[in-house]
Amino acid sequence: MSKNFIPPTDPKFHSIFYRRSVRQYKPEPLTEKEIQTIIQGAMRAPTAGNMMMYTILEVKDQAMKERLVKTCDNQPFIAKAPLVLIFLADIQRLYDYYAFCGVPEKCSARNIDYRTPKEADMLLASCDALIAAQNAVTTAEALGIGSCYIGDIMENLEEHRTMFNLPRWVFPITMVCFGYSKSTVPPEKRKLIPRFPQHTIHYQDHYRHMGPADFKEMYSASDEQYKNIIKENSEYDNSGQLMYFRKTGADFTKEMERSVKLAIKDWIA
Ligand SMILES: Cc1cc2nc3c(=O)[nH]c(=O)nc-3n(C[C@H](O)[C@H](O)[C@H](O)COP(=O)(O)O)c2cc1C
Repeated sequence: MSKNFIPPTDPKFHSIFYRRSVRQYKPEPLTEKEIQTIIQGAMRAPTAGNMMMYTILEVKDQAMKERLVKTCDNQPFIAKAPLVLIFLADIQRLYDYYAFCGVPEKCSARNIDYRTPKEADMLLASCDALIAAQNAVTTAEALGIGSCYIGDIMENLEEHRTMFNLPRWVFPITMVCFGYSKSTVPPEKRKLIPRFPQHTIHYQDHYRHMGPADFKEMYSASDEQYKNIIKENSEYDNSGQLMYFRKTGADFTKEMERSVKLAIKDWIA
């Protein structure tokens, strides 16, 4: 938690201020009622124009979960998650509806171009899907159920399209694994992953570039976390270099870049 901030003690805030990602789950399945509550919580999220430009795909098949371990950068905990939801940015359903309603014919009769989905629609649908995903996470947390996002679902587009029959105007923007945590630590006693100081994230009126002192303060926790790896590894001088080579410049990020580029190309074609 931020140095000068004391989180509200009222338990109704626990799902926000004491949430942390959970990657080790008790094996028992979630009940149908719990799953329905998580999905309905997601569906209560704000959605642009109330158009719900997203689809929530529940992955029930164990073989599919095992395959997702591989296609999502080898993360074995995915296969052990009692509930796996993929949040799809989805304009396909809306455009299928427009076709059903005869919108293309109406545009043609009026001599107006029929607009097909472009980059902006992809971003807007992705906003919808991500906001719904976060509502699912917060709902689960309120039920005492842990979760973890899997951003790597944006990789390997061709394989995910085949696995889940995804049409052209549907893009898997994120995936979330859910389950009861193996840990028995109560929420308010959890060791939280620190966040950057508020002044480095919250600006007023204008954008501000960070200077050396800000960076030192921002990354003191990761400097501490990575200091032993850096000591043992002469390739890296500091945690920024380590972070770049292990994340931003890593192979999985290059695969994400390739896959997303293809998704955008097909979407706007
Ligand atoms: C868009 C997004 C993608 C993420 N992808 C992964 C992932 O693929 N694997 C994973 O273990 N955690 C993933 N996470 C979880 C983050 O690592 C986690 O939120 C971060 O380290 C902060 O920890 P906390 O959630 O416990 O506060 C992702 C989170 C987000 C928001």
